[in-house]
Amino acid sequence: MSELLNNQAKERIYGARKVAVLTGAGISAESGIPTFRDTDGLWTKFSPMELSSFEAFYNNTAIVAEWYKKRRHIIEETMPNPGHYALAEIEKKFQYFDIITQNIDGLHSKAGSNNIIEIHGNIMKNYCIDCKKKYSAKEFDTIYETSVSHIPRCNCGGLIRPDVVWFGELLPKQTIEKAFQKAEKADIFFSIGTSAMVRPASDLPITAIQNGAFLIEINMKQTHLSDYTHLQLNGPSGKILPQLLKEIEKILHD
Ligand code: APR
Repeated sequence: MSELLNNQAKERIYGARKVAVLTGAGISAESGIPTFRDTDGLWTKFSPMELSSFEAFYNNTAIVAEWYKKRRHIIEETMPNPGHYALAEIEKKFQYFDIITQNIDGLHSKAGSNNIIEIHGNIMKNYCIDCKKKYSAKEFDTIYETSVSHIPRCNCGGLIRPDVVWFGELLPKQTIEKAFQKAEKADIFFSIGTSAMVRPASDLPITAIQNGAFLIEINMKQTHLSDYTHLQLNGPSGKILPQLLKEIEKILHD
């Protein structure tokens, strides 16, 4: 494979102290987790509004609870791919390195990354909508299985929901503010495996370049963001990121 980074990118990486990364479903595709908007994506099979909204959960609790339980069991068996592991290694090359992920699969943490901001939540976590008591995936499953109606209820009587951000819901204020602070201060910003269609996540790379960051996109194809990038690396992130790690090591050790 020819070198990924051009001279401008090499210079910017050599001088970078703060790096921020936005990841989307594409980085987990090579781990076997379907994306949302690709041809075989989740939203081509299910209606997001019928399964990923509070209204859907409140009106069809058992169906939505079952859907998340099924997705969680798939994800629990899933392992990070070389792209996740490469990012965990690239993190060690910079003074400040933060991953802002839209993914709820926990694979960055499984791969050993440390500074992770899960802006859409985490499918393994659950909480009661009334008293906010937290429930693990295992606790949720036990309550779900033992409930005749498969309606997961807290001891206080409230419904237990996945700790993920649904369509129409606001992202946790502190979480998204922290993500924008990282984007504003980044010397280099990577957008990896995201269609860059869902706000406010898709505003992060724009905020980064507006504040002087060098923007690199890794994706299988062009996205809404591509026209704004300084460097576009097209291909599977599971192949590109390990190569990128090697090139970064060469730049920082030469
Ligand atoms: N390597 C790199 N990019 C990939 C790969 C891969 N192996 N496979 C797919 N992609 C790219 C696709 O080209 C697409 O641009 O990943 C992107 C996936 O886009 P989406 O399916 O829209 O997923 P994402 O951008 O994460 O969606 C954002 O939308 O439905 C909500 O909450 C959901 O967090 C999600 C948000």
